[in-house]
Amino acid sequence: MRITVFSFLLFFAVSSVSLAAPRQAAVAMPDRFSAEVASEVLASGGNAVDAAIAAQFVLAVTLPEAGNIGGGGFMLVHKDGEQYFLDYREMAPAAARRDMYLDEEGNVIPDLSLYGVLASGVPGTVAGMWQAHQRHGTKPWAELLAPAVKLAAQGFAVSAPLAHYAADFAQEVEGKHPSVNFARYFGAMQAGEIFRQPELAATLRRIRDLGPDGFYRGETAKIIASFMRENRGLITEADLAAYEAKWRDPIVADWRDMQVVSAAPPSSGGIAVVQWLKMYDRALAANDQPAHNSADYLHLLAEVGKRVFADRAEYLGDPDFYPVPISELLADEYIAKRAGELNLAAISPTPAIQPGLPESEETTHFSIVDQWGNAVSNTTTINLGFGSGVVVEGAGFLLNDEMDDFSAKPGVANVFGALGGEANEVQPFKRMLSSMSPTIVLRDGTVKMVTGSPGGTTIISSVYQSILNAVEFGMDAQQVVDTPRFHHQLWPRDVIRHHGGLDASTREKLQEMGYKLDRRGFGDLQVIVERDGQLDAASQSSGRGTARVLTMECLLESCM
Ligand code: DON
Repeated sequence: MRITVFSFLLFFAVSSVSLAAPRQAAVAMPDRFSAEVASEVLASGGNAVDAAIAAQFVLAVTLPEAGNIGGGGFMLVHKDGEQYFLDYREMAPAAARRDMYLDEEGNVIPDLSLYGVLASGVPGTVAGMWQAHQRHGTKPWAELLAPAVKLAAQGFAVSAPLAHYAADFAQEVEGKHPSVNFARYFGAMQAGEIFRQPELAATLRRIRDLGPDGFYRGETAKIIASFMRENRGLITEADLAAYEAKWRDPIVADWRDMQVVSAAPPSSGGIAVVQWLKMYDRALAANDQPAHNSADYLHLLAEVGKRVFADRAEYLGDPDFYPVPISELLADEYIAKRAGELNLAAISPTPAIQPGLPESEETTHFSIVDQWGNAVSNTTTINLGFGSGVVVEGAGFLLNDEMDDFSAKPGVANVFGALGGEANEVQPFKRMLSSMSPTIVLRDGTVKMVTGSPGGTTIISSVYQSILNAVEFGMDAQQVVDTPRFHHQLWPRDVIRHHGGLDASTREKLQEMGYKLDRRGFGDLQVIVERDGQLDAASQSSGRGTARVLTMECLLESCM
């Protein structure tokens, strides 16, 4: 793709933005298709929000395990010096009830909130992208939808990891619920073969032509509602028509000489990331800084994690339904008090409650900076990989299993081992608590870092550690995403989950302290970091992501 020098300069001249312009743009995306499309949008004069919208729809086609129109997410935008947080999280349908996942004895029915039609909240993605476009988009909506329509109609070459993932999932969910029809739609994916999705293409065309009415009303809404009726699901046409994406105040906190901007409730992510960073600093004020990924470092951050997750379980939920005490949780005195309770010599005791452990997981994140220094940090999900395993027949897209992020019963953990109570119980039209933590770090009003990851509750650890890796330990973007990470969330008791690659001495020392180690990969960080005035971008090597820095020359001449 080419744009002329003249049109580029003209566009630059009329832009109202006067940042110390990096004259660079960057993308860190979870697959190559979204990276290509986002880069093309930026190179042809689109801003970061335009690129994000186009990429989000592409991911609904090429990354079916997490990219979606049948799910939801959060978009954080830094634009013209202001911060905006868009909540397009799914919502419980009107017929949802607090005890809908319990049997007659009051026990949680296994898998009911994870597979099949009852697992899905009302999707928020299309409304979210529309809101983002209304407020910040510069390119025509239809132009931004075009790449996704094309990839769905003409097909894309399936990668080996995707083909294997889909085949494994098809086997795993077989017979889990009568409405699970995953294999019929995605069972045919073969590595290296072109995969076409004609029903999805038709749905995307309706969205392209009609905006949100192409999804929440009219033909698509009718298809969804009648599919639900046939399968004893809950989502109705009225639920779809009632869905709204919401602009909320992001979490904004001063941290060192920077500002951390992140996701507000109904995500727990921003509060958790900020609490983690601030308690870490409090602990450092009174103690020597432990070496990166040493046992002392992991223990300190695990001690913080216990407090963060105890607060998450008690206080966090949808702020439209529950008064989340945001300022109290982030107040300096409170952080100081909690940091004062950290025990740096031994593990603080944890009372006993049944934990749950993740089986498989997926969500996806991307980070974008445009040539004007605007940024988008966007995390989107259908919850676990391939969501509920249910494809809306006739509309060709997968539905989420986000209802599992509610607390089905106090004291019973969800699939990520997260606990909750009243704050996060199921109620009609309520949004389930999330850990998604799209985050932007600013210094002097300009972007220092854009970060985010999938991984359920581990998202929070991936994000705060990516910030420490970049800021505290000066790593470049690739090191930031690939350095082994770890996660502790209070429950399961004294378990530290960690990536391979931790030193043997670190592991031995932690075990001597009484930790149980659970070596398992997690996350798929997509980060952009500003280093000495230059952008540096990276995708975690274990995933399918692609990151690019587009230079002035690339923007002019195209380096695609
Ligand atoms: O909103 C949340 O916190 C979860 N539904 C995210 C799921 C997730 O990250 C799964 N992935 N790896």
